[in-house]
Amino acid sequence: MDIERVAVVGLGTMGAGIAEVLARAGLQVVGIEVDEAALGHGVAILDGSLARAVSRGRLTEAEQAAIRGRVTPVTGFREAATADLAIEVVPERLEIKHQIFAELDRVCSPSAILATNTSSLSVTAIAAGTRHPERVVGMHFFNPATVMRLVEVVSTVLTAPAAVGAVTGLARQLGKTPVQVADRAGFVANALLLPYLNHAVRLLETQYASREDIDAAATAGAGLPMGPLALLDLIGLDTCVSILQVLDAEFGGTRYRPAPLLRRLTDAGRTGRKSGQGFYHYTGNHGEPGTAEGGTGEDGAPAVPGLVTVIGSSDFDHIATELAAAGINITRNPAHDTELILVEATPAGPVLPAALAAGRPDQVVGLHTNPGPADAAPAELISTELTGAAARLAAEALAAKLGLRVLHAPDRPGFLVAALLYPHLADAVRMVQDGYAPAADVDTAMTLGCGYPRGPFALLDAIGPAVVAEVLETMHDGYGDPAFAVPLLLAEHAAAGLPFLPGESRP
Ligand code: 3HC
Repeated sequence: MDIERVAVVGLGTMGAGIAEVLARAGLQVVGIEVDEAALGHGVAILDGSLARAVSRGRLTEAEQAAIRGRVTPVTGFREAATADLAIEVVPERLEIKHQIFAELDRVCSPSAILATNTSSLSVTAIAAGTRHPERVVGMHFFNPATVMRLVEVVSTVLTAPAAVGAVTGLARQLGKTPVQVADRAGFVANALLLPYLNHAVRLLETQYASREDIDAAATAGAGLPMGPLALLDLIGLDTCVSILQVLDAEFGGTRYRPAPLLRRLTDAGRTGRKSGQGFYHYTGNHGEPGTAEGGTGEDGAPAVPGLVTVIGSSDFDHIATELAAAGINITRNPAHDTELILVEATPAGPVLPAALAAGRPDQVVGLHTNPGPADAAPAELISTELTGAAARLAAEALAAKLGLRVLHAPDRPGFLVAALLYPHLADAVRMVQDGYAPAADVDTAMTLGCGYPRGPFALLDAIGPAVVAEVLETMHDGYGDPAFAVPLLLAEHAAAGLPFLPGESRP
């Protein structure tokens, strides 16, 4: 079936983006909103995005006018009557979806396909309220819709193969990669992404780490395109709460229950970029991050210590070498009187025992170097309960001298990078273990839908299943939270030394 005219119902961030994608591909689009104010807002999102593309030299003014000319913004459903396809992109509430689908059912031609861009609700439940559930299908885009390449195509037991085929073909025509997924809560990408984002909020609200360090743990630590808090702002905190509530109802447990801070910010209207403020402040059409508050001034910058005690295994020798190359004297004898004792730290074990053994725990700071992207590999500085302020400042000065990107982490299992990311990897393993999706599909979803440079399983194989399992074990022991338990499948791969993706090379 050829799709030439599409009605997009709801012109919020995603709806306006989807309308733009369709119009850019040459389709006629009817953009439907509930009233003039909402319509004006949606059109402003579309116009802002096109204007930005022109200012960046990505579109000519003639192309901009042609794309804009293909979009007809209207209130009311009448114009949907001639659409070959209607895509619903309204807030994640089943009763609203049912109202929209009842309208579409009434207005659209019997041959039209009705699609929902729901992020997490059951497509079956949405379809069940319609007269022709066989023409209802899920077509789940990712934000920003113009950029992200994944479209999850969701069929139900009721969906006609022709409807699936038509939207799959359309997704390809739009330059996207369609992936067939089952009608399960969160499909593939959101079921994996959202608990990770929620976990990041918990780390922030428990003051485990700063906003910037949490985001840098993902970007510098794992090469992800955005930190989780910045990504929450992009998606919209309200949308994330809605998705998490669906996942929580389905799966339960701390990974899915929306973090109180997430709910509070949503209740306060701080829903992210679209409202100008979420975890960060934003200005401009694309919600450019505003000026970050705080920062370390030049005044009173701590002096780099001239002599440092270094304690660690041979794996830590490179730090001693780098310190020496930077002109800093080092000793390996804890009895020497230095103002800083730098101890090798590994995320599977606490720094405190080594600090106590050194005899001067207030002067001990743990250092864990992560393998991230070469230009920004972060180093975690671990303060124990007994680390003094002077030692902490001296360690920061030292790290700056070595050009390390520093993340501050408490002396708790996983420190920061592993504490944020390894439970995410465990969730991915659980998805495979529970037959949710094969490992390769999970990786495809996360690379194309969320811009990961490599999927969770490629990352897991690169780190090593045994390393990830060991850290998770310490997190599970420490917190007693079943969410951190090592999935059986991960334990098996760890024990067998078996990667998840065949042919994936291990370091
Ligand atoms: N809105 C629309 N388009 C945007 C945008 C925004 N907020 N931010 C960036 N873009 C587009 C622009 O077209 C831009 O091109 P331009 O520079 O020519 O204007 C292009 O993206 C690249 O942008 P930048 O160079 O400014 O920025 P980056 O290179 O840092 O990329 C990013 C920005 C594409 C957003 C990247 O950071 C990324 O991939 N982030 C991950 C996004 C993600 O995970 N999305 C999925 C969320 S889950 C979801 O949507 C499902 C839903 O159900 C919740």
